[in-house]
Amino acid sequence: MVTMETAELDTDLSLFKYDNLEQLPPHYRDLEEDERTERIEAALEELGDDVVVLGHNYQRREIVEHADFIGDSYQLSKEAAEADAEYVVFGGVTFMAESADIITDDDQTVILPSMEASCPMAGMAEALQVDSAWAEITAAAPDEDIVPITYMNSYADLKAFCASHGGLVCTSSNAHRAFEYAFERGDKVLFLPDKHLGENTAYRLGMEDEIAKWDPWDPDGKDAEEVAESDIILWDGYCQVHERFRETHIEEIRADHPDAQVVVHPECRREVVEAADVVGSTSTICETVANADPGETWAIGTEIHLTNHLQRWHPEVDVLPLCGDACMDCNAMRQIDPNYLTWVLEELVEGRERNVIEVAPEEKELAEVALDRMLDI
Ligand code: 13P
Ligand code: SF4
Repeated sequence: MVTMETAELDTDLSLFKYDNLEQLPPHYRDLEEDERTERIEAALEELGDDVVVLGHNYQRREIVEHADFIGDSYQLSKEAAEADAEYVVFGGVTFMAESADIITDDDQTVILPSMEASCPMAGMAEALQVDSAWAEITAAAPDEDIVPITYMNSYADLKAFCASHGGLVCTSSNAHRAFEYAFERGDKVLFLPDKHLGENTAYRLGMEDEIAKWDPWDPDGKDAEEVAESDIILWDGYCQVHERFRETHIEEIRADHPDAQVVVHPECRREVVEAADVVGSTSTICETVANADPGETWAIGTEIHLTNHLQRWHPEVDVLPLCGDACMDCNAMRQIDPNYLTWVLEELVEGRERNVIEVAPEEKELAEVALDRMLDI
């Protein structure tokens, strides 16, 4: 029997943005898989149309197996916007659940099963830090309109900030369209927090000579006068799961498997994206493997749970993790374990709402503007 270890609360990822979030009760911590599956299914049956479970592509097998919809951040935000259910249980990270809360109606409740599912990259652009950078950069370019764009992987206050300055949100699947939107309305873009997605998007638009970087942690890495000379200013955030991939991994894969093709996420470094055959969001990665002919070999440059799902979902395709055993899982996504899912669903059956994500009203309205702009492009 498979038992599931539930993480303790001492990881350095605990951003505890929501102090109402609760820990898993001890008697849910060592459930066995068969019993847990039965209990999750019974709770879902009981809740019927009152609940929808959304699962990001990086979630564990034991979560995506119970999801009504599995997808990338963009698809899940659309599903949340269209959901009729009273409860949206989000198998994803905090910024995704926040976005779902912003997009859903006021009488719908969004639940994030575990309180620790906080994406470190989202924490790399704190609204206060961004405010002060904005003041410096706009002062250095007084005659130019700068449009801020934040990647979906950011908190609601930053999305609200972008809306209040004419900007918007994007995901990895529509970043290029968000840049186009911004350049139709302004002269420069400040892109946060992922420098790699920003750089890869600039290259895609042929604007690679227009890039400057703003490193908020390095006193020598943020010269407002200097960055104001460029049209694309990139915040120096990154995802450690995707930074792990290097060009040498692609060279090694091609040497060991001459027929292999490589698909990577645009959060990877520029040189990795350049050396890959296909680049795209997690749903593009899924489609690439789904559309492969039997016997083709695809090496996957993204979070390891998705690579494992693809191996399981498409046994006719040879699916390889791009850097082998060194491929990482996302520590934030992993916090949503099926014991937590069992607990929040059984509590809903009992009429108790646990781990509700509720964005502060003052952030919600503006953040919704930024998300709506994205959904419209
Ligand atoms: P997608 O939008 O491609 O699903 O990516 C989300 C994410 O967090 C990647 O690290
Ligand atoms: Fe954040 Fe990276 Fe995890 Fe995506 S894979 S949720 S960017 S830490």
